[in-house]
Amino acid sequence: MGKTKIAVLVSGGGTNLQALIDSVASGVLQSGEIALVLSGNRDAYALERAAKAGIATEIVVKKECADQADFEQKIIAALKKYGIELIVLAGFMNILSADFTERYPERIINVHPSLIPSFCGKGFYGLRVHEAALEYGVKVTGATVHFVNEIPDGGRIIAQKAVEIQAGDTPEILQKRVMEQAEWILLPQAVETVSAAMMKGETV
Ligand code: GAR
Repeated sequence: MGKTKIAVLVSGGGTNLQALIDSVASGVLQSGEIALVLSGNRDAYALERAAKAGIATEIVVKKECADQADFEQKIIAALKKYGIELIVLAGFMNILSADFTERYPERIINVHPSLIPSFCGKGFYGLRVHEAALEYGVKVTGATVHFVNEIPDGGRIIAQKAVEIQAGDTPEILQKRVMEQAEWILLPQAVETVSAAMMKGETV
């Protein structure tokens, strides 16, 4: 049986995309192939990372679409074009509707930079998650990889890793530590687990 065909959806720097690309080279991701990188932002540096790795790219910008349904139809068309079986949200900054998520039950994975259910849901993305954790004063944060359903950051958890907060942390310093110690390790491992299960017709 062939490898699971993966699309990585991005909007920004794409360091999690890079971790996935590197995990193919290192052998961590063996059961899936990154067949498409789809960006919600024309200027995303992630697009350059994809091009460098020889991965096909597509761009779908919400502001350039008539409405949410049109935006999602365009994404679905791109996913079909490349025969995508598994979708990975890696810093994708658009919320997907229930219409979309219901089409891919337990076939969409997201990485979120906190220990869900803390600092998650609508409005919690990117640096804002770390700002909120520091503001609250928690001593431990981390990252979560989970399946995506109609509730923002509400789908079944696949993996979590804790990261300590240190005195003097800024949101930027904390973001980098959470990426290095948690996200970049956890996401490729989880994508491999799900891809391998899909190849064997099993559930995770
Ligand atoms: C990552 O920290 C990711 O967990 C977060 O955005 C960053 C993207 O960085 N995602 C969310 O906050 C989703 N709610 P990257 O483009 O370098 O991978």
